[in-house]
Amino acid sequence: MRSKVTKAIFPVAGMGTRFLPATKSVPKEIMTLVDRPLIQYAIDEARAAGIKEFIFVTSRGKGALEDYFDHSPQLESELRKRGKDDLLEALKSTNMDSGAIAYIRQHKALGLGHAVWCARRLIANEPFAVILPDDVIAAEKPCLQQMVEAYEEVGGSMVAAMEVPMEKASSYGVLDVAEDHGTIVDVKGMVEKPPMGEAPSNLAVIGRYIITPDVLRSLNKMKQGAGGEIQLTDAIAQEVEEGRGVRGLRFQGQRFDCGSKAGFLQATVAFGLARDDLRDELQDYLTELMTTNKAAQ
Ligand code: UTP
Repeated sequence: MRSKVTKAIFPVAGMGTRFLPATKSVPKEIMTLVDRPLIQYAIDEARAAGIKEFIFVTSRGKGALEDYFDHSPQLESELRKRGKDDLLEALKSTNMDSGAIAYIRQHKALGLGHAVWCARRLIANEPFAVILPDDVIAAEKPCLQQMVEAYEEVGGSMVAAMEVPMEKASSYGVLDVAEDHGTIVDVKGMVEKPPMGEAPSNLAVIGRYIITPDVLRSLNKMKQGAGGEIQLTDAIAQEVEEGRGVRGLRFQGQRFDCGSKAGFLQATVAFGLARDDLRDELQDYLTELMTTNKAAQ
């Protein structure tokens, strides 16, 4: 019987330099997509996949993130007094059970692999998920749930994989595919940000992982890799070297790179159009904008 995946690590210790000056005082994960901060989408996805323990790897200046998941008695009683039941209901999703959430500091931004390693003592000997909140995925069945279900069938470590144009592959961790079964691919290697023209495939790794405790043992011994950072992909690739299974899951859904400005804007439009209360107004505005632009050309 495989152990259930009940813990997830959310590495949120990065500096978010692509969003400066906003991220000087607002953590990237608190930035708002329509009316929820990025981190809320990640938490909702984790809950849907059966995650019960939420581990945040944070850094200096991320206090707003801790406050976000705290109860807010004053605000709640005010909303109750005013009969704002819908808003009270919306606030409920931000409340976490006592003891379900833990914060660990990454004292130096030494990379994603290092951030995950910082949480090692909270993981013990069980598989766990890693979610990068700046990858937001719109999907009928949440991406991590797809991965957990696949993991329960095949085991091993698993990464979410997405096809990208070959010329963009050097911006991602890329899979070297041993065997392609369609939804699942067996992996024989992984390369972080391969030089242009040297990517082993066009299957890019995006920010969802299920990881076995062996990967943490590899991270224990890890040296800095691409870009001087300790890379999570290098530690997962080590699994292949040591004869343990690593698989990629071609998930169903659309991923938005909310770590980049263009990706965040695209997500805002897509998530806005998906909302019944916003669709018509937004659509009218976009149509008008396109028409005016075309007329001006
Ligand atoms: P990014 O590569 O997007 O880095 O990290 P960043 O610092 O967040 O943003 P930019 O590039 O400066 O704009 C991917 C994920 O890994 C986390 C980040 O918080 C983000 O969720 N991370 C990265 C850490 O937790 N620690 C690190 O040392 C590096």
